Amino acid sequence: MTERIVLAYSGGLDTSVAIGWIGEATGAEVIAVAVDVGQGGESLETIRQRALGCGAVEAYVADASDEFANEYCMPTLKANALYQGHYPLVSAISRPVIVKHLVKAAREFGATTVAHGCTGKGNDQVRFEVGIQTLGPDLKCIAPVRDLALTRDKAIAFAEEKGLPIETTKKNPYSIDQNVWGRAVETGYLEDIWNAPTKDIYDYTAAPEFPPAPDEVTISFEAGVPVAIDGVKVTPLQAIKELNRRAGAQGVGRIDVVEDRLVGIKSREIYEAPGAMALITAHKHLEDITVEREQARFKATVGQRWSELVYDGQWFSPLKRSLDAFIEDTQKHVSGDIRMTLHGGQAVVNGRRSETSLYDFDLATYDTGDTFDQSMARGFIELWGMSAKVASGRDIRVAGK
Ligand code: ARG
Repeated sequence: MTERIVLAYSGGLDTSVAIGWIGEATGAEVIAVAVDVGQGGESLETIRQRALGCGAVEAYVADASDEFANEYCMPTLKANALYQGHYPLVSAISRPVIVKHLVKAAREFGATTVAHGCTGKGNDQVRFEVGIQTLGPDLKCIAPVRDLALTRDKAIAFAEEKGLPIETTKKNPYSIDQNVWGRAVETGYLEDIWNAPTKDIYDYTAAPEFPPAPDEVTISFEAGVPVAIDGVKVTPLQAIKELNRRAGAQGVGRIDVVEDRLVGIKSREIYEAPGAMALITAHKHLEDITVEREQARFKATVGQRWSELVYDGQWFSPLKRSLDAFIEDTQKHVSGDIRMTLHGGQAVVNGRRSETSLYDFDLATYDTGDTFDQSMARGFIELWGMSAKVASGRDIRVAGK
């Protein structure tokens, strides 16, 4: 029986050519799998037809947009995950859900190998292959760009020679990856890290310099998950989409960073994640009133570690799973409403309320009705500083010898 290979298919030039390229190099049949993670753009049926036109024996489309929002974006929100303090893991969280569907398709179509269009320099090859190794340890991986010398020039020549139904003349100088959680743009002019991004780079956000009137939004959460916007019930996917639209119109969520790739390269990327950044901001502020101090402090370090693991392609790893359990436990009381103003590139929280709040007006107030006994503070401070005071006494004594 002819060997079968499942290919992660985007509909773009590289993966379209990869269908025939893999076929010629290996003699295998190629099954194209396109996964909808809310990337928008062309219809998936158009993409499916293109795969067949490029020689795929089967083309399969998986609608994973709700699954992606519920099982990938929501954990990222609960973790307030920002890799290196900036990047909300847009591409990093889409790879594991794509992997799930690739492995499922490999089983369904009897494939032995999974292929993807990544280069040998990035994080995504790692995320795909570590994920595949974990979910389908018997499956092999192949990356035509990396393993079968499929360069851009060769791809264009191949597409023209074979008359593939794909545009080869439209020159996009950027490498773009997008889904409902955000959009990532790199290469070309951006590789000079002194160059400011130009206007044409952005798609999810309008220029924050010329914002429309401020937009006030109330986001309601239950156990860390957005459940309503301005009182209207929403699913996680709807919440992200609605905030992409409203925060995007105000230019919220533009990020320009040089980040540390897992392979040791520092690389520059421009992100736009209006919905994700508005949600993370709101969620963090709700945690500020509902999560106990020590738990909150510890959670910040857990969230950072979680972000690194996910960035580094360890979505399906045991440690990531254990950290998920911790984060989930912290979210029990993260319920309530956050009011924020979206304007001129900023999402600013200006009101919060929660039935499960730890904010105690009577303890906090400086007005009459104060229930905090200030006389307790003196003794507390005395003991709190004791250890450092004893040490400093020793230091003075030793220095004086
Ligand atoms: N640097 C980001 C990451 O590793 C995004 C990678 C994909 N970016 C792109 N523009 N194609 O998660």
